[in-house]
Amino acid sequence: MMNIFITREVPAIIKQSLTDQGHRLFEWTEKRDLTPDELIQYAKDSDALFSVGGHAIDSHVLAACDHLRVIALCSVGYDHVDVATATRLGIPIGNTPGVLSKATADTAFLLMQNVARKAIHKHKEILRGNWEFFDPMVDLGIDLQGKTLGIYGLGRIGYEMAKSCRYAFNMPVIYHNRGHNEEAEQDLDARRVSFEELLEQSDVLSVHANLSDQTQGIFNRDAFSRMKASAIFINTARGSMHNEEDLRTALENGVIWGAGLDVTNPEPMAPDNPLLNMPNVAILPHIGSATVETRMKMMQLTVENVLAGLRGDKLPYCVNP
Ligand code: DGY
Repeated sequence: MMNIFITREVPAIIKQSLTDQGHRLFEWTEKRDLTPDELIQYAKDSDALFSVGGHAIDSHVLAACDHLRVIALCSVGYDHVDVATATRLGIPIGNTPGVLSKATADTAFLLMQNVARKAIHKHKEILRGNWEFFDPMVDLGIDLQGKTLGIYGLGRIGYEMAKSCRYAFNMPVIYHNRGHNEEAEQDLDARRVSFEELLEQSDVLSVHANLSDQTQGIFNRDAFSRMKASAIFINTARGSMHNEEDLRTALENGVIWGAGLDVTNPEPMAPDNPLLNMPNVAILPHIGSATVETRMKMMQLTVENVLAGLRGDKLPYCVNP
């Protein structure tokens, strides 16, 4: 029997697939994030960490829990984990690629439409009692039909976003990526461009890259200043890829037209953040993968990784090099 620490409450069926194999579970049930010390306290005597949520698994945590046989993340992103240290300590790290691509792309698509039609802003106006008079040319949205979609980071999620935009609004697709995405070029006529071209030509620029030293803060004042004044910026990847102050200044000064964010830095975003009250901005609380079907699939992959790690097998979805 091995010990598994789960950092959030998960469905009974998920727990059962672990206990059926004879393992013992410890589940964090408080409705608050674990502190780093609490994470160490529970993980250090466990054989597996089933990690749900973005709590940092840094070198300090890893050094204190260096006998873990596996860390299985219930997320595709692993920027909150020091993978290099885990690899050095021989701890495999698993993630959940593929199963959340469509749901996350759907969130980007939802934000794009919300911003283009000012939907969240208009809803707030009704709540404020401002639905009184039909003024035909005031506070209008913009059409998306035929506008150019720019994808920053065309992997699985970017591909799904590009496909939805191509089919729904016949949007030509350009993208910036380290390498070519041949599938997108063939299926969607996507065209690979330089970062500068992506900024200059996109009507909607949607961010789908991984967070890294190269992408951190890349959407800054300089980047926004190269974009069209009519452009919409969408980020469903990681909040620290855009500089929030530069984004707010760009929106306030009409440097770009609007923004839709499912990710912020920090998360949660403070409720008095000025971006939340801007008419050209739509913000969601990191719900990219938040559907019943997707979360269940993510948890099932996490179970597969935990069980493989405890058996000493190679993880089916492993991020260590
Ligand atoms: C992921 O899986 O990385 C999503 O951002 C959810 O955290």
